[in-house]
Amino acid sequence: MIRTVLVTGAGGYIGSVLVPKLLDRGYRVRALDRFFFGLDKLPSQEGLEVVQEDSRRLGPEHLAGIDAVIDLVAISNDPSGELFQEATYQINHASRAATAGLARDLGVQRYLLPSSCSIYGFQGEDRLVDETAPTNPLTTYARANEMAEQAVLPLASDTFTVVVIRQATVYGASQRMRFDLAINGMTYGAWKNGVIPLMRDGSQWRPMVHVQDTTDVMCLLLEAEPSRINGEIFNVGSDRNNYQLGPLAQEMVRVMPRPVSIEWYGDPDHRSYRVAFGKVERTLGWTARWTAADGAREIWEGLEAGRLAKDSTTITLEWYRKLETWHRIIREVERYGGILQLP
Ligand SMILES: NC(=O)c1ccc[n+]([C@@H]2O[C@H](COP(=O)([O-])OP(=O)(O)OC[C@H]3O[C@@H](n4cnc5c(N)ncnc54)[C@H](O)[C@@H]3O)[C@@H](O)[C@H]2O)c1
Repeated sequence: MIRTVLVTGAGGYIGSVLVPKLLDRGYRVRALDRFFFGLDKLPSQEGLEVVQEDSRRLGPEHLAGIDAVIDLVAISNDPSGELFQEATYQINHASRAATAGLARDLGVQRYLLPSSCSIYGFQGEDRLVDETAPTNPLTTYARANEMAEQAVLPLASDTFTVVVIRQATVYGASQRMRFDLAINGMTYGAWKNGVIPLMRDGSQWRPMVHVQDTTDVMCLLLEAEPSRINGEIFNVGSDRNNYQLGPLAQEMVRVMPRPVSIEWYGDPDHRSYRVAFGKVERTLGWTARWTAADGAREIWEGLEAGRLAKDSTTITLEWYRKLETWHRIIREVERYGGILQLP
């Protein structure tokens, strides 16, 4: 019986949708995060305990009373992974391997690693890859995710259920909004400038999943019979959201409420993976509820209504860069714990 869940990276894009969902379903949640994107992303709701801590310093006290871990913590995209390589290996791989090991040693029942379909990297032509296909991680972010998978899966045992999910690229509204994700960024560009940004050359395959759908899967995996999921990898997404980016942009043009055009950017993208999602559907009896068009409309409406807005926290790389720059400047000028005001 799972009652109390430790969610790492809980203040992030996926975490700030997952945590309220778990609380609504009656779980108690310990939300551990550095809260790089702000401390205001989670609701003050009964059953929530907030822990501002680094996953690399996670100790037995953070796992006391915990039945399951959902280890979302990560430097969460390719460009940030390249700029902060060492931190990405430490956080995405080493800290999650250590957390899973500690969880097993302390008698936690279940551990869920949210990984990424990006570890399929480039898969030739239109080949459809399932969980048994050879991986081809092309970036630090993808390699660190794969290393985490390889570290945690062997820990599965009769008393410790370990599951990996390889999520498609996520879209949809969140308290910690990200406009550096394909559908979210396309919708923002269309809303703000009447232009959908499209990464060259548009033929690359990229599966998509709504943030509500992937968090629903996480909830199902907390309850699923261990014998059906233990030691398993599940791709999380859906066939109808398996897109080539060019046709996805055309679809976005079609569903936007105002006329918009497409504008190319970037060098040709070498990542292309078309993914099979039958295993998660068969095992959990789950199918994705959201289409890309639904997600685009949701974001457009959120922007129109002022519920969503773009600032530098919504572009992950830009925000981490700023935090590092401010940290350096503040360290140089700070004296006695202050700048102009001294405590
Ligand atoms: N968003 C996607 O499209 C997508 C797709 C596939 C997989 N994933 C995976 O899902 C997970 C969550 O992604 P997200 O989009 O919510 O990312 P995010 O960047 O919004 O959230 C990550 C959270 O981790 C926190 N964090 C980072 N380093 C930390 C540390 N050392 N200690 C404590 N907290 C730290 C950040 O403050 C942030 O709140 C990641 O593992 C990511 O790789 C995401």
